[in-house]
Parts: sequence; structure tokens; C-alpha cells
Amino acid sequence: MQDQLIIFDTTLRDGEQAPGIALSPDDKVAIAKQLARLRVDVIEAGFAASSPGDFESVSRIAGEVAGPTIATLARTHPDDIDRAADALKAADKARIHVFISTSPIHMEQMIKMTPDEVLVAVKEGVARARTYVDDVEFSPQDATRSDPDFIIEVCRAAVAAGATTINIPDTVGYAMPDEFVELMRRVYDDVRGGNEDVIVSTHCHNDLGMAVANSLSAIHAGARQIEGAINGIGERAGNTSTEEIIMALSTRSDLFDVEIGADTTQILETSRLVSSLTGYPIQYNKAVVGKNAFAHESGIHQHGVLQNRETYEIMDPASVGHQSVLVLGKHSGRAAFADALERLGIPLEDEDFQRAFERFKELADRKGEITEQGLLAIVSEETGFNSEEMRLVALHFTGGSHDEPVATVTLDREGTEVVSTASGDGMVNAAFVALQDAYGIAATLLDYRVSPLSSGADAMAKVDVIVQVASATYSGRGVSTDVVEGSARAMIAALNKASFAHGIANGDNDG
Ligand code: KIV
Ligand code: ZN
Repeated sequence: MQDQLIIFDTTLRDGEQAPGIALSPDDKVAIAKQLARLRVDVIEAGFAASSPGDFESVSRIAGEVAGPTIATLARTHPDDIDRAADALKAADKARIHVFISTSPIHMEQMIKMTPDEVLVAVKEGVARARTYVDDVEFSPQDATRSDPDFIIEVCRAAVAAGATTINIPDTVGYAMPDEFVELMRRVYDDVRGGNEDVIVSTHCHNDLGMAVANSLSAIHAGARQIEGAINGIGERAGNTSTEEIIMALSTRSDLFDVEIGADTTQILETSRLVSSLTGYPIQYNKAVVGKNAFAHESGIHQHGVLQNRETYEIMDPASVGHQSVLVLGKHSGRAAFADALERLGIPLEDEDFQRAFERFKELADRKGEITEQGLLAIVSEETGFNSEEMRLVALHFTGGSHDEPVATVTLDREGTEVVSTASGDGMVNAAFVALQDAYGIAATLLDYRVSPLSSGADAMAKVDVIVQVASATYSGRGVSTDVVEGSARAMIAALNKASFAHGIANGDNDG
């Protein structure tokens, strides 16, 4: 039987220590609930003694989030440990994570303690934590710049005092994989020994870009817990990315003899939530969750992916909640261009196709990426077909029977007013039904996302929709201070495209 690898997520503690991030208790509860859906094993919910806000967050998560073990960080001070225990009272499974620095520079300059004093503090701190919970983790901070013999001595003392997890932090992201494995192997052999109740763990920072590599290498040295943060956020260059660890282990299960319990399909949702609540953007080319992680632009790659996704994709994008995207740009070839038209339900053939393709190449050379809207403009230009786009004039609601809202949309089609009324299950739904009636198009909503564009009372919201009409899909975006109006605008943008494609497919451009 394979060992279980424990995924310990510290987005809400170390991740939140990233400069400029300040999550409210509500934000933290929302992220913790999503981490529980991702099925991480341990959520480090905060550092309870560090502020009243962190104490409240840890207590609320302990009481409101079921599934994972809930942990909080604590120094070896008795007050920290008592506060940690207090915050964790409501948790079904609680862990106190005790830490103290062990490197010469930290002991001399920061905590002003001798190695002997540190040793005593570890014994007392861990033993005190054990009076409250059975699950105690101990970390020697700055382990990779500490004397390895001292690390072993301190960690042995922690185990003797009752620690059940020994976590080795590369606090300043200094270690290289080979030396980190050597240290982890020593800890595994000399601290854990034959004691199967002790788990050896890693906690790596990314200052030299080694965090994920170091954490994974440690598995070969016996580590059975990896600590990380979603999107790799954290102090300075951040922590090990939780999502990269999960996907490395599931993609290369041939190399790692461990099992994980995570639900990979929740990865993208978790990443987006953390990004929107922390305000930390995700770099386009970020592994696993970046916008371009499954995007292909060159003609050769696009051709390959259209034949068989696995030619250039080692992970199924759907397995992380993502999707493959063929970006239409100057490197794209005919196959990708035809595929994009087909996805929009536009059956261009022969000369029309050739002309549109040439125009596309010409524009892509100058503009870089060609969007769905750009593609429709090219097709319109080259086929001479112009659909009559509609635009929103007014949107009103009244209450209908059974309290269902009734939406009345007024649209303008080239100077002619089109009015449509419909009821629905909620205001957005009522507006969507009225709009579909106005266009005479039945659309299935595949995706609906609202993201804030600014904060404050008159905050702007961006709404993105993807709808399916017959076998084609269309996206639309709307921006407004009112989410319902933004939603209607997004639906109108998508339905304008659908109506255009529908016109071409029906040969309306012949005359
Ligand atoms: O990086 C670090 O050393 C830490 C410890 C507190 C575990 O975050
Ligand atoms: Zn850290």
C-alpha cells in the first residue's frame, strides 16, 4: 500500500504574509471552505496570537470548516500556545504548529537566545501544546542555515516532548535539491527513526525558484507532508505552490510512491478565489493555473493539439478545472483558424475561407492575438455579411406571480426598438430569458463569472458569460456598476455573436 502524502496548505498564514495582503476573517473563511473542497489535509488558518483578526479567523475556520485538520502557528511562548489552543477549541481535528529559530544568525540577532535556551524552549513549548491537542507540529526556523547536528538535537527533543510532525523549513529559500535531500534524509533517519507516528515534513520558500523542486525531492528522503500556498504566495518570492505539488504528484505518479487525497478539479477555482481576494494577480505563464498554462499559439503546436491533445499537454486541462485554448495569433495555421470558426458555428468554405484566412494572417502579424470579436469582424469584412447587432437601451424589473421577478429589456437594432418581457428564477435569469426571446435564440449558459474591477460603493463589476447555441459556443463580457445590468450586457455580447454566426450559417450573406 502506498503512503499518504499530507498536503498542508498555509495560504492563510504564510501566504497571507506576502507584502500587501490583508484578508478579513470573512475572506479567510471563504478561502478555507474552498480549500476544504480542494480536499487538502491540513489548513494552517493563521497565527492566532499575532492579532485579534487572526485569532477570529482561526476560531471561525475551526468552527465552520469541516474536513481538513485546522492548524495555527505559535511561538514556543506559553501565551502563544494558550491562545492557539483557545482559537482551535471548535475544531474537530486541531493542530498546534510550534516554531523557533535555530540558525546562528536568527538566534544571535533576532531572538537573542543561546542554543541551550532554544532547546529548553522547544521542550517546554511542545509539551505545553500537547496538553491541549494530540497533534503537534514542530519547525526549526531557518533550518537550512542551521547546524545540522543542532537541528537533529532540537527535533529529537521536540519528538520526546510529544511532537507528531517534524517540519523542516527552508525559510529563506537557500537550499539546492541535493543538499536539501541530504538534510531531510538525516532528519528522517536520526529523528524519526523507526517511530511510525512521526511525520517528516517540508516547508520551502522560493527565493531561488527551488521551492517546488526541493519539496518534491524530499519525498524521496521520506517526507510525507509538504507545506505550500495556493498560487505560491508568501513572504518575498513566496512558498511552494500547493497546486504545483498536487499536479506534479498526480502527473508523475510513476516517480512518487505516495497517494494524495486532493480533488484536482477544484484547483483553478481555488486559485482564482485566492487571487481575487488577495489582489495578487496570477502570472500568465504560471504553471497549472496561469491563463496560458494550456494555451497554444504556434501553428505546429496547434496542429498537434487538434490531432491529439497529448502531443503538447502533459495534464488534461479539465483535470484542474481549466480548458485548452488555441490562441489565434501570427503563428497559427489553417487548422486552428478552421477550428475557431467551427467553434463559433461559422461554416466558411472555399474562397470565403481562403480570403478570411489571409486577412487573419495579415492582421495577426500586426496585432498579435486575434480575439473572438476580431475573428467575427474579419469574417464580416470578407463575406460582406453584417449582422444587425442589438444594444441595450433599458432594463426594468417588476415582481411577478409567486414572487418571481419579471424583466423587461428594451434593445435597439439599427434604430428599431425591440422589447421583450420574461420572468425567471432571479433577476439575472429573468433578464437572460427575455434577451433570448428578443433574439429568437435558445442559449445554454455554460459559464458565468462576476469579478470586481474596483472597490467602494459604486464599484464596477465585470461579468463574463459563455453560452452554447446548437454545438457552438460564444463568450460575452459586460461591465457595469450593477451586476444584473453587467450580466445582461454580457449576454447581449454573446447573443450578438451567435446571431451573426447564425446569419452566416443560414446563408443570409448570399444577397
Ligand atoms: O518559513 C518558515 O520558516 C516558516 C515557519 C514558521 C514554519 O514559515
Ligand atoms: Zn515560511
